[in-house]
Formats: sequence, structure tokens, C-alpha cells
Amino acid sequence: MPTALVFGGSGKTARHITRILVSKSYAVHSIIRNPSQTPDLESLGAKSIVQSIEEASVQDLVKTIRAVSPSVVIWAAGAGAGNPERTKTVDEEGAIKSFDAAAEAGVKRYVTISALDVRDRENRPTPDWYSEDDVKMSDRLWGVIKPFMLAKLAADRNLVTENGWRGLEYTIVRPGGLKNEPGKGTVSAGKVHLGTMVSREDVAAAVVAVIDQDETKGLAIDVVGGDTAIDEAIKTAAQRKVNCFDGYH
Ligand SMILES: NC(=O)c1ccc[n+]([C@@H]2O[C@H](COP(=O)([O-])OP(=O)(O)OC[C@H]3O[C@@H](n4cnc5c(N)ncnc54)[C@H](OP(=O)(O)O)[C@@H]3O)[C@@H](O)[C@H]2O)c1
Repeated sequence: MPTALVFGGSGKTARHITRILVSKSYAVHSIIRNPSQTPDLESLGAKSIVQSIEEASVQDLVKTIRAVSPSVVIWAAGAGAGNPERTKTVDEEGAIKSFDAAAEAGVKRYVTISALDVRDRENRPTPDWYSEDDVKMSDRLWGVIKPFMLAKLAADRNLVTENGWRGLEYTIVRPGGLKNEPGKGTVSAGKVHLGTMVSREDVAAAVVAVIDQDETKGLAIDVVGGDTAIDEAIKTAAQRKVNCFDGYH
């Protein structure tokens, strides 16, 4: 039976991922920090593991991952806006601990949810597909949530540049602003423009499409609201080897 381990399993996108994976006969294990979320996760068909990503050491996480022996690890955790210290300990340091632990536990497949427009704005060029509006929107976005973007940048850069020894088969899914509306079953994926929000349910389906499609390994794929069927959008980005992070970190 395929088995998934989801960091931040009680999150809003993670719950959609869980529901979809359970419907595809995956065993889903969810790392959560608040035991009161266990009944909810059980009702979705997942098993919960109560372990704070912030407090756990790499070795604690290795033990957890070895016990589950997942075919895929998914990062869907996040500290949320408003607390830059927790953004650092969850979105950056927590994510990096999870990469180390996954590698040490012998896991190969790792899918992480990052964010659209995560890049090194000081030392790298503006993405070549950005319009003038994208540049303005990027300025606004970074003005509001810079600590979050820097934490994601540090984590994603670590994932990509330290993979020589880790050997993970990673994919980075980079959604735009998330909304709770029901999914449409469609998105735009690849080199997209900024400014169109995307439903968490559609991002979850994109994450599952990525897991299903081996050609996505090693890629970073942007995902926003759009009109292409999700599997098709991910497949096309994968076949074109679209990598929205390469050259921008
Ligand atoms: N919000 C956006 O517009 C946006 C845009 C682009 C990308 N993203 C990224 O997309 C992903 C999913 O976002 P979302 O809004 O669906 O997530 P969410 O609902 O905010 O869920 C995040 C989950 O992470 C968990 N978490 C936080 N700290 C933890 C810790 N120390 N140990 C264990 N779990 C911990 C939270 O647990 P608690 O319930 O206990 O707090 C929460 O369940 C995240 O990686 C996020 O950074 C978000």
C-alpha cells in the first residue's frame, strides 16, 4: 500500500491532500502538534502522529519517518503570517530538518509546498516571463510578507543545493495566494503570472498530480488559478521541464 507522511497534516491544504490520497488507497500519516485534531484527521482516514516540528530534533523526525516508512513525504506545514520567529523555526528550520530526516531515514520522494515568487531578489535577475504588472505585484507581496518569503527561499535553496548528499527526488509546488473556495479542478501551472489566487483544494490536487507524475522530480512548478485540467497542467509543465526556481535562488 502506498504510504504518505504529511508534515502539518491538520492544515487546510493538507486535509484536502489527505482526503484525495485516502481515496487513492494511500495510508496517510499526519504529523500534528495539537492532539485535539486527531479525531478530525481520523475521520478523513489518516493516522495522526503528535510531534511539534519546531521542538523535534532531526533524530526525532528520523525515528518518526522510519516508523512510517512512507513512499512519499509531503511538506504542507507553515507558521502562518504574523510571527516572524515561528516563520523561521517552522517554514525555514523545520522544513530543513524534515529534508535531513527524510534523507537519513532513506526516503526518496519528497514534495514540498512553497510559494509563488520565492526567489533571491537581490542577487538574481527578475524571472524572464514576468510582466511589468508581475514586477509591481512582486514588490507589493515582498513588502507585506518578506519574512515568510525569505524563510521559504532559505528552505527551498537548501533543498536544491544540498541534494547531492541527500539524494531526495523532490518536487517544489509553488502556489499563489491560497483561498478556501471549493476547487474547480483546473489551474495554470508552470511559468505563470502573479495575482490569481488558487483554491487550496486545487493545490492539493496539484500536489497529488505531482506525486503521480515522476517527470516532476527535480522541478519547481508554479500553480495559480486557471483553466487547464490539473493533471494536464502538471503533465505539460513536467514534460517541458519547467523549473521556476532554477536560476533564481
Ligand atoms: N496562505 C497562503 O496564501 C500561502 C501561499 C503560498 C504558500 N503557502 C504554503 O502552503 C502550505 C499550506 O498552507 P495552508 O494555508 O493550507 O496551511 P495552514 O492551514 O496554515 O496549515 C499549516 C499547518 O502547519 C501546522 N504547523 C505549524 N507549526 C507546526 C509545528 N511546529 N508542528 C507541527 N505542525 C505545525 C499547523 O498546525 P496548527 O493547526 O497546530 O497551527 C497547521 O495545521 C504551507 O506550507 C504554506 O506556507 C501558503
